[in-house]
Amino acid sequence: MADQAFVTLATNDGYARGAMVLGKSLRDHNTSKKLVVLIGPQMSETCQSVLKRIFDEVKVVDVLDSGDAAHLGMMKRPDLGVTFTKLHCWTLTQFSKCVFMDADTLVLSNVDELFDREELSAAPDPGWPDCFNSGVFVFRPSLETHGKLLQYCTEHGSFDGGDQGVLNGFFSDWATADISKHLPFIYNLSSVAIYTYLPAFKQFGGNAKVVHFLGKTKPWSYTYDTKSKRIAGEVPEAATHPTFLLDWWALYSSAVVPMLQEQYGDQPFQSGCVEEASCSSPAEPETQMSSEQRKQKWEQGQADYMGTDSFDNIKKKLDTFLK
Ligand code: UDP
Ligand code: GLC
Ligand code: MN
Repeated sequence: MADQAFVTLATNDGYARGAMVLGKSLRDHNTSKKLVVLIGPQMSETCQSVLKRIFDEVKVVDVLDSGDAAHLGMMKRPDLGVTFTKLHCWTLTQFSKCVFMDADTLVLSNVDELFDREELSAAPDPGWPDCFNSGVFVFRPSLETHGKLLQYCTEHGSFDGGDQGVLNGFFSDWATADISKHLPFIYNLSSVAIYTYLPAFKQFGGNAKVVHFLGKTKPWSYTYDTKSKRIAGEVPEAATHPTFLLDWWALYSSAVVPMLQEQYGDQPFQSGCVEEASCSSPAEPETQMSSEQRKQKWEQGQADYMGTDSFDNIKKKLDTFLK
């Protein structure tokens, strides 16, 4: 539909990579909606060119910064003041309805049904479920609402220093007024939840439609070994679920890197991909472990999610039993 769009935001080249992967994932799942990315004026020409290939519209906006070091400090995320820039999404009045998605989200299946919802629909925040998480939300562009939101910022500021604090203050009856505005958690599954409620993740995680790499370390902060198709080096256990992280890298390395490469031409650039399958593979010591030892480790919560105990391997094992 021409008057409905998915919207994301990237103020710099790092988040631009996230936006490229998100846009590609929406396309790969055959969305019928337009794709729009709001960018900051700082973004390199190269990234802008790649974004133009994936998105229908690339719109340069002023970067708004809450400058609220005190509140952002409480979240240990001094970088998030610029998320006020997200509020510009209400100015996209050429569309009647939009779905905003953070640049650190990845779509796992078609989610066009989100457009059946009304403003403001969003999923609960895993840290405080009476607040919605502002990484995925349905909204109606309107200059009036945009004006009111900016006024709200001036008068009340944001309790977390970022857009989520403002939006929860502004749409303050979200928690209680209308259950149809509560998106199921599978539309904004954040890695945090996987580690705080693993049994629920095991039960329902397979239905996830959107993953959100919420937190300081983003997928593009890692290095990926294209030969072994693994994250190179250490992945802090609580960082994110490895299979989702690998899904992100698989799409980035296969679809986005070639586009970046084309734009950079002969100039070298940091894609984040390396080819070093020769480095000691974390799977090797695990394969030498007895299955009793592995069981013990698993029960102690020390599963080798990236190797022997990866979802793929568990699935293979189950398949052999079922045959
Ligand atoms: N963002 C951006 N530049 C920044 C920080 C954030 O463009 O320097 C945008 C981007 O779309 C990002 C969103 O704001 O996904 C929210 O920030 P982030 O995802 O880092 O917050 P988290 O979800 O980790 O709390
Ligand atoms: C949250 C959201 C993010 C938002 C940030 C700042 O954790 O995931 O989208 O920008 O808080 O409010
Ligand atoms: Mn995010």
